[in-house]
This record gives sequence, C-alpha cells and structure tokens, in this order.
Amino acid sequence: MGKTYSKGLEGVIAAETKMSFIDGEKGVLEYVGIPIGELASHSTFEETVFLLWNLRLPKKDELARFQAELRKRYELPAGMAQRLLSLPRDAKPMHVIRTMVSALSMHDLNPDANDIPSLREKALNILARTPTLLAYFHRYRIGMPLVAPDPSLSIAENFLYMLNGERPTETMAKAMDVCLVLHADHGLNNSTFSARSVMSTQSDMYSAVTAAIGSLKGPLHGGANEGVMVMLNEIPSVDAAEKYVLDKLARKDKIMGFGHRIYKSYDPRAKHLQVLARQLASDTGNIALYDKSKRIEEVMATAVAAKGIYPNVDFYSATTYHCIGLPLDMFTPVFVIARIGGWAGHVIEQMGDNRLFRPDVDYTGPHGVAYTPVTKR
Ligand code: CMC
Repeated sequence: MGKTYSKGLEGVIAAETKMSFIDGEKGVLEYVGIPIGELASHSTFEETVFLLWNLRLPKKDELARFQAELRKRYELPAGMAQRLLSLPRDAKPMHVIRTMVSALSMHDLNPDANDIPSLREKALNILARTPTLLAYFHRYRIGMPLVAPDPSLSIAENFLYMLNGERPTETMAKAMDVCLVLHADHGLNNSTFSARSVMSTQSDMYSAVTAAIGSLKGPLHGGANEGVMVMLNEIPSVDAAEKYVLDKLARKDKIMGFGHRIYKSYDPRAKHLQVLARQLASDTGNIALYDKSKRIEEVMATAVAAKGIYPNVDFYSATTYHCIGLPLDMFTPVFVIARIGGWAGHVIEQMGDNRLFRPDVDYTGPHGVAYTPVTKR
C-alpha cells in the first residue's frame, strides 16, 4: 500500500462508525441519521446515549430500564469517596476526573473483560459515576458537605443537585440536558480517536476513557470552552471586544471557540447553543456576556469567516454554562460527562470489528551515526 503523509491526519479515514455523521461544508451533524437539532429539541441525554449505544431510539419501557440501570449506579463504590477526599483541594477537576475514572477500574472485579456485554456494563458504570465524582470533588474543595445522588433524577438534574445542594429549576435542568445531548458524539474527534486507539490494543474501557479525558482537556479540543470564558472575562465591555479580537488576530493568536477541522461553515451545535445562551443570559441577568459573545462573532465574521472560521460548539456553551451557574473549571468536565456517551459507544464499536491502530511515521533524522562515548561528547 502506498504511504501518504497527512499532518494532523487531516482527511484520513481511520475507522467506520454508525454513530454520528458530519457534513462540514453544509454544517450538518446527525446521530444515527437524526439531525442534532431534532434531538436537542425533543430528546434527552439518556435517550441520546441509548441511541448511540444501540443505533436506534428506545421504546418507552426500554428507556425506563436504561434510565434505571444508570440511576442505580449513581452511588460510588465503597472506598471511592474516601479516595476522592484525600486529593488536594486545589487540584483541577479535569485532572481529578481523569484520575478517578482510571481509579474506578480498581473497583471492578473484572476490569479487563472486553466482551460486548461487559463493555456495556463498564460504560454504564463510568457514565453514571462521573457526575458523582465531579460533584463530590467540588463540594469537598469548597468545604461543603457532600450531597448524595438522588436516583429519582436524570443525569443532568442530579449533577446540578449534587453540585449545588439544591434541586435545579426546570429551565436549568433542561438547559444542562440539552448541552449534554449536543456534546455527546462527534465523529472521530481527537478524544474519540484516542479512546478507539487505546481500545484497539485490547486494553480496557477504563484505560480508553481515561486517555480520552486527557485528550479532551486540551485547549484546542474540549478545553476551549474554559478558554472562551477566560476571554469573555478579559474583555471589559461590548465596545472593547473588537480591539481585543483584532489585536489577538494580529498576534496570530487563536480565538477560542472558533474554527474547526471539519466544519467550514456554522457548527450546527453552536447554532442551537446560541439560542440557548441568549435565552439563559436574559433570564439570569447575564445579557452583557451574551452581547460580548455576539460582538466577538461579528468581528470574527468580518475578519476571518472567509477562511471558513465560525463559532464552534465551545463558543456559546461557555455563556450557557456560566448562566447555569457552573464554576469555570467545571465547563470541560461537563463535556466529559456528555462525551462518555460517544467514547463508550465508539469503544464498543471498535471491539465489534477491531484492528490495532498503528500508523507509520516519516523518519526525518540522520542515519549511520557513530556512537560517541560519554567522555568524548
Ligand atoms: N482563531 C483565529 N484563527 C484561526 C482559528 C481561531 N480560533 N482557528 C483557525 N484559525 C486559522 C489559523 O490561524 C490558520 O490560518 P492561516 O491558514 O492563515 O495560517 C487557519 O485558520 C487554519 O487553522 P488550523 O489551526 O491549521 O486548523 P486546524 O484544522 O488544525 O485547527 C482548531 C482546528 C479547532 C484546532 C482551530 O480552529 C483552533 O485552534 N481553534 C481554537 C480552539 C477551539 O475553539 N477548539 C475547539 C474545537 S471544537 C470542539 C472540540 O473539539 O472540543
């Protein structure tokens, strides 16, 4: 087979999937053929995860059983909470969750079982417990008593309940749920590729998800939503946004929340999030934040839209999460909760038809170099 080099693997097809489809030119994203806007408007996160893991929507009783399977796993295994409470309080939540998802494997009697039913079981465990781990860590670091999960609540509601110690309003719970739906899967993005690549060695679900969390953390990937919020905080007013953006572009800095390897038109997730952000910002007295975002978008449209650079999913999710009341460093962890749906589904898909990922590299160094003894270097 002829070898070609594509920096950043751009344009390389490295796997097959039936989970999500993206048309980057037309700005289309579908999960199992259903447009993302339809799911954001009518589905729930739990139903969307069922869809991704089973490649069809559940019947009513199937959804109820799936929700029950998740809810009975909200509690942490014995000993996990103590482990969490021994972490440094100033640790960053992304480091915490990467470590604690990895630690969950030690509470699994058969962590290396890679048959499909076992992988599904592990996927349920990781998805159900990640919000508990994050909320417990947050309560611990702010010196507040832990709030045990409530199995009568959805993942979105329960996460906000455990984090804040009070039930979220219906609007906030719904907004959180929509964010989880919008972030659940997205083709062979870097973290999903990481998960599939680890799984292709026949490692295990925990290792695959741990690797994916490490990948998602980066500011060019899921970490961008926190970068957007930092930027919004740095810009003192709507009027200051233009100069801020143009100065950054002149320095060849990236504007967080813009651009995408695949989308060369408006990211359909960002379209939905923009509407949500505007609504929440106006409901919560944060309209100035939304207005700043809108101004940044206008400046970027004049400055760089010709290059195919538009807001991506992270841009308006920052304002949305802020309005929901999430602490800044919980933005990317929320992306983790959502994307576990995608990662776990891809891991299962990978194991259904596995071949080891092992790309080649173009060696550009010297050859035949004589070894120099340390005394002569
Ligand atoms: N701000 C300013 N210029 C940009 C941006 C941006 N955000 N993104 C791309 N460009 C420019 C870039 O400077 C380059 O210009 P030129 O051709 O003149 O040198 C051109 O567009 C191509 O950029 P690239 O970095 O080679 O494109 P890529 O496909 O490797 O990168 C990206 C995609 C997402 C890493 C990049 O757009 C970026 O760094 N964006 C900011 C970080 C961000 O928002 N990441 C979230 C991505 S979406 C959700 C997720 O994956 O988590």
